[in-house]
Amino acid sequence: MPSESEELELRVPRWKELQQASRAVRANAWAPYSRFQVGAAVLTGNGTIFSGCNVENASYGLTICAERVAMCSALAAGARDFPVLCVSLQGMAVPCGACCQFLVEFNSRMVILLDDLARENGPPELTTLDQLLPRAFHL
Ligand code: THU
Repeated sequence: MPSESEELELRVPRWKELQQASRAVRANAWAPYSRFQVGAAVLTGNGTIFSGCNVENASYGLTICAERVAMCSALAAGARDFPVLCVSLQGMAVPCGACCQFLVEFNSRMVILLDDLARENGPPELTTLDQLLPRAFHL
C-alpha cells in the first residue's frame, strides 16, 4: 500500500508544477468583497497547464470560482481532456459543489489536488471528483 506522498508522485508526477501555477495565479484574484483569494490550475491531456483565479462582482451572485475560470480558459483553447486539477487557498481547500458539478461534465474521475496554503510547502492532498461529488447529476 503506497503512502500518501508515494501515491501523489505516482498519479501526478507534475504535481509541483500544478501547485506552483495554482498558487501563482491566486495573486490575480479579483476578490474585493470576500478578500478570499483562490487559484486553480488544470492539467490537460496533452500536458498543457491552464490556470484561473476567482473573479467576484458587485452583484455577488455573478462571482466565478477559480476552478471554473481555469477550466473555461482551457476549454476556450480547445482542450477537452482534463485528468488533474489543483486548487489553492488558505484554509480548507475544496472545490464548491457548483464547481464539482461543472467539472463532472468533463471527467467524473478527475484527480483533484487540494492545496491548503496553511500547509506551506507541504504537498497537496489527493482526492477525486467522484469522492467529492459521488451523486453528481448526469443527463
Ligand atoms: N471560491 C473559489 O474560487 N473556489 C472555491 O473552491 C471556493 C470559493 C471563491 C468564490 C469567492 O470569490 C470566494 O472564494 C469566497 O467564497
